[in-house]
Amino acid sequence: MSDKDAAQVKVWDMPVRLFHWALVAGFATAYLSAELHKMTVHVWIGYALIALLLFRLVWGFAGNQYARFKSFIFTPQETLAYVRSIRGGHAKHYYGHNPAGALMVFALLGLLLAIFVSGLVTLAVIDFEGPLLFLANSVSDETAYFFRHAHDWMVNAALLLIPLHLLGVVSGSLQHKENLVRSMVTGMKSKATEV
Ligand code: HEM
Ligand code: HEM
Repeated sequence: MSDKDAAQVKVWDMPVRLFHWALVAGFATAYLSAELHKMTVHVWIGYALIALLLFRLVWGFAGNQYARFKSFIFTPQETLAYVRSIRGGHAKHYYGHNPAGALMVFALLGLLLAIFVSGLVTLAVIDFEGPLLFLANSVSDETAYFFRHAHDWMVNAALLLIPLHLLGVVSGSLQHKENLVRSMVTGMKSKATEV
């Protein structure tokens, strides 16, 4: 092992990195295909995204230390203290998600799950297709359109959260003078940045 390797810590394992960048590509494709009314593409990308998210949920219990959900569950007190310390310019450095980032990660994963469920229900009760087709006869038109609109609203909520996620990534990178985007590509973080 060279000195350079020794100064690096492996944080994001390969499955987490693949999950992240496939999610970014899949989200963009799902959004564009819906806007362009390419619904066959939309639904197939949707299925792939569901599989991706289910995999991440399993990996949250089976992955490396930093991939596991329990390594980035913080108390409200820890999260508030972290947010306050950002303003003071001396926020604690974390190898994995910091408390504010972790909150965003859970919000995004939860929202994605809700988008996927509402998409599957819409597919069944509006388009009469897909694995939840058995719901089609037991749902009123009103309920069906509720799910259709909920799918749309939650996508819009995700479109609000994503820029905040990116702002968090930029601000975290500046705060600790490290390139978080590069770490999500290489998986590595520099040991020297630990406070
Ligand atoms: C992050 C992933 C997703 C995004 C960004 C997304 C986005 C959207 C958007 C923006 C629309 C509205 C299109 C319009 O303007 O009419 C839509 C509609 C729809 N989506 Fe998704 N969606 C996603 C995942 C899914 C999934 C997983 C499924 C189901 C497998 C799904 C099924 C549908 C259906 C059935 C419609 C409505 C089609 C209709 O009105 O008949 N979506 N989606
Ligand atoms: C080009 C756009 C994006 C960039 C540059 C980016 C960058 C990053 C980075 C650097 C991290 C790690 C944060 C940390 O070190 O704590 C991260 C995590 C994450 N990002 Fe993004 N992101 C982008 C788009 C998105 C989108 C569109 C979504 C969701 C639809 C998303 C969902 C997530 C999730 C769920 C995690 C947690 C990863 C895990 O632990 O599995 N990101 N992102």
